[in-house]
Amino acid sequence: MNITANTRPLGLLGYPVTHSKSPQILNEVCRILGIPATYMAYSVCPDHLKEAVNGMRVLNFIGFNVTIPHKVAIIPYLDELDETAEEIGAVNTVLNKDGKLIGYNTDGVGYLRSLQEETAFSLKNKIVTILGAGGAARAVSITLAKAGAAKVFIANRTQSKAEELANVLGTFTSASAVALLQAHEKIAESHLLVNTTSIGMSPHTEVMPVPADYLHPKLLVSDLIYRPEETKLLLSAKQIGARTHGGLGMLLHQAAVAVEHWFNETAPILQMRAILENED
Ligand code: ATR
Repeated sequence: MNITANTRPLGLLGYPVTHSKSPQILNEVCRILGIPATYMAYSVCPDHLKEAVNGMRVLNFIGFNVTIPHKVAIIPYLDELDETAEEIGAVNTVLNKDGKLIGYNTDGVGYLRSLQEETAFSLKNKIVTILGAGGAARAVSITLAKAGAAKVFIANRTQSKAEELANVLGTFTSASAVALLQAHEKIAESHLLVNTTSIGMSPHTEVMPVPADYLHPKLLVSDLIYRPEETKLLLSAKQIGARTHGGLGMLLHQAAVAVEHWFNETAPILQMRAILENED
């Protein structure tokens, strides 16, 4: 890339950021779209978050991504939140609009686009069970509820957290909470099951969030985990003839939506997917 005095910065704020593929993907996006910008990953410890955000403001960043552990903590340092970020209570994308830092959350819409593109699943009159009640569960469940799911069950190890999230969801649709290992009946009624927990993630690939006999063939089983591409949960679902949906698409589409916020242009999805799928 030809860096000149007009090249503007973009970046990722996280802690740590060493395994992120965002720099590769976003620099390629800028090259393809002809945008004079360069994207770097910044490992910033929580104590320095405020200074980092103000630094990005004065250095006139186009925008930046935000990842663990800063997605909630960054909110007081921004000037505005869009409606979805406000509802989710977390930010993963910031746009610098003429000096005003606006926070967005593209995780939920990224998930929904991936689900629709890869499975054509329609949410109308559908019952959904979400495994987990953390940040990812919040983004996905609020998005699915707003997109028309008829009923959402939140199944979590810590039931009080499931109840908190179900209360929030109650504004958008019918919602209730259950303990993770008591979710059998709720899953039996469901059309879509989404794992948002880290159970089954590499290197602990032999475990699954719920026993295999909770699954049934009419279920679409979706896992936000993208490494391995097929978790034990998805393999078990396939074995009984259920449809499956892996986590790579969400990662891709949440980045694509960020690109749209920053550049007001459609993201080059195919090239972005090729980088993500390239194991290294
Ligand atoms: P994220 O932002 O990825 O959603 P998070 O906010 O830390 O991460 O949430 C992690 C979720 O995975 C939680 O729902 C957590 O359950 P608890 O609320 O009971 O902690 C769930 N989780 C993580 N490890 C788990 C495990 N070993 N067994 C059951 N649930 C687990």
